[in-house]
Amino acid sequence: MSPQDFDFVAQLLKQRSGLTIGPDKAYLLESRLNPVARKHGFAGLNELIQALRLRGDQSLTKDVVEAMTTNESFFFRDTKPFDQFRRLVLPHLLEKRAAKRSFRIWSAACSSGQEAYSLAMILKEFDSKLTGWRVEMVGTDLSTEILDKAKEGLYSQFEVQRGLPVQLLVKYFTQEGDRWRISPEIKRMVTFRTFNLLDDPTPLGQFDVVFLRNVLIYFDQPTKAKVLERVAKLMAPDGFLYLGGAETVLGISDKFQVLPAERGIYGLAASAQPQRAAASA
Ligand SMILES: C[S@@+](CC[C@H](N)C(=O)[O-])C[C@H]1O[C@@H](n2cnc3c(N)ncnc32)[C@H](O)[C@@H]1O
Repeated sequence: MSPQDFDFVAQLLKQRSGLTIGPDKAYLLESRLNPVARKHGFAGLNELIQALRLRGDQSLTKDVVEAMTTNESFFFRDTKPFDQFRRLVLPHLLEKRAAKRSFRIWSAACSSGQEAYSLAMILKEFDSKLTGWRVEMVGTDLSTEILDKAKEGLYSQFEVQRGLPVQLLVKYFTQEGDRWRISPEIKRMVTFRTFNLLDDPTPLGQFDVVFLRNVLIYFDQPTKAKVLERVAKLMAPDGFLYLGGAETVLGISDKFQVLPAERGIYGLAASAQPQRAAASA
């Protein structure tokens, strides 16, 4: 691939998904885009890039952008965030939302759904305390293909072996051939929809908990800052933000502060609170 073609595709990806890709990743572009070229009937990558340049074909662009996303996810990823959710976040919400008996959770960049379904399984542990409550969980991702998998809730043996305790596998999944289907009771707790984190999330409404894990790593600093700023605007004033293990707000956004003694979870910084109040006034 010529340097000009590489720059063109890298620029397109940055604009459409926020993905920042350096020339050292040219091999990744080639390995991920060759199947897209075949699918669309092109002789090779050069022809695909020519078509992107000349035609501005939306379906081709979408396939290129989706092919470049990394959809790695697994149940109860990194364990600790989910322990914190059970130990700290849910008790807080049960107390603070007792009057309105409702709260909302956003699994932003949810990939194939394991994050949202892990949270749903934890919520099930609190079933008796949540009787009569309205708990809404929204999973969003840029990729419609990966969202279709999330909506289907059908996982390979390998996927259910990564992070999912065997008791939960037995309790909430049924085997179909060599795959495992999540139960309807867990599935109906989550609504999946397409959403690009580069867009304005205001229409999604306010959230009490946001899981924004393992996606900022693909963005450059200004994009991370912009996404975090927008997320801050739709968080409840006492809401919780989760980032991935390799991600931080430090040096990127002053809208959040790490919760004392709870690495990995953030609350709105005092400076962001008046803005939130003003935004909702
Ligand atoms: C590595 S997965 C993380 C999944 C899950 N949050 C986790 O931690 O296991 C990253 C996901 O981010 C999605 N993604 C990448 N860029 C995005 C964007 N601009 N808007 C929404 N989702 C995006 C990808 O499609 C992919 O499914």
